[in-house]
Amino acid sequence: MEPSTQKLIHTFGALADLGQEIAGRGDFNEMVRTSMHLLLGTLALRRGAVVECVDKGELRCVAIWGVGEELFKDSSVTEEEKQQFHNGDFSELLLSNSAATNSFINRNRELLDQEGIELVLPMIVREEITGLVLLGKKASGEEFSGDDFETIRAMVRHIGVGIHTHRLLEQVAQRAEENRRLYEELRSIYRATVRAFAAAIDIKDKYTQGHSERVGRYSEIIAREMGWSEEEVEGIQIAGYLHDIGKLVVDRDIINAPYAINAKESSELNRHPAAGYEILAPINHPYADIPLMAKYHHERLDGRGYPDGLVDEQIPLGAKIVSLADSFDAMTTDRPYRRRRSFEDVVRDLRQNSGTQFDPKVVTAFARAMLKEVNGATKERRITKMLGKDYLQGENVPTLLTDLIADLSGVGSGAQSYK
Ligand SMILES: [Fe+2]
Repeated sequence: MEPSTQKLIHTFGALADLGQEIAGRGDFNEMVRTSMHLLLGTLALRRGAVVECVDKGELRCVAIWGVGEELFKDSSVTEEEKQQFHNGDFSELLLSNSAATNSFINRNRELLDQEGIELVLPMIVREEITGLVLLGKKASGEEFSGDDFETIRAMVRHIGVGIHTHRLLEQVAQRAEENRRLYEELRSIYRATVRAFAAAIDIKDKYTQGHSERVGRYSEIIAREMGWSEEEVEGIQIAGYLHDIGKLVVDRDIINAPYAINAKESSELNRHPAAGYEILAPINHPYADIPLMAKYHHERLDGRGYPDGLVDEQIPLGAKIVSLADSFDAMTTDRPYRRRRSFEDVVRDLRQNSGTQFDPKVVTAFARAMLKEVNGATKERRITKMLGKDYLQGENVPTLLTDLIADLSGVGSGAQSYK
């Protein structure tokens, strides 16, 4: 094989390697270093450097071989010099050409000579100078040939494209980060608005201070215990906060009636889940199903709930969770006409109404979450805090919960088996 053919094949191979290196998703600096080594190896050069040209023309060394590390520190390329690089031919880029008029090379001639640099090439991508490649003399002492120049031009262009692509990717990543921040901000505004709404709902009902907030928290605890994702858990917490939002359109006197309300008033009050749905449905919530959870939080498994009288499998799981959280809070807080019920009494209610009003899976999960707090298996005492520290202190509480879990799951203690 002719030596020139062999060289061509070698160059071709080096270009292919370079292409792969540049297209790879590895470390950027490593990519540039490897590319430079390929270039030096292909032409048997002893030294070289790849210098990136950033922002206003400042130079930043990305890869060096056989050249001092401080090369071009605090140095830059002016606009005029960039123009010269655009227009000049190869002979203008050779240091040995003392007649060259490239002012960047001329003003750095001494430094470049000291470092043994023979050729300074611009990397031009889309009319922009992304940086410079500096190359030393050939190890053989020969001059660069026309073929060498072609090879160098092709490889330098490859490296330039690599640097350019890297910059674009960095910009995309930056934009993505900005978008993420904006999105986070929007979410926090949304959450703050939801909390404000929850407070507005609770203010309207003077007997149930903090009810919506607690229903949100209980719902979140139950959903997490049932293995929901963080995103879903956040969603159901919002649904809990907003479940009674429909009460905003119900007459305040009916909500606050200190006596048993009549049938007409009761049907007016029972409008609130459907009214809540009407309020929430047009909003583009960042979480799924919030309007439906509000709509169906008074449905029952046996079909005797409202507004639609749905049965078990027709009721969204989220609505079942909010429903239990709602009832639990109603039973465990004082009302003007009655004291809250004892924990034993509440557990009895949950057992009796599981399968008719409440979903046993949901009750089991809630009982499990409470048991974890009572046993000290979880550090956070969120349920205890909401109920007041004495409420779950009774000696029989762990047994009550364990038995409830066992009864509902129907297999042994059931603590782990019901998911
Ligand atoms: Fe309600």
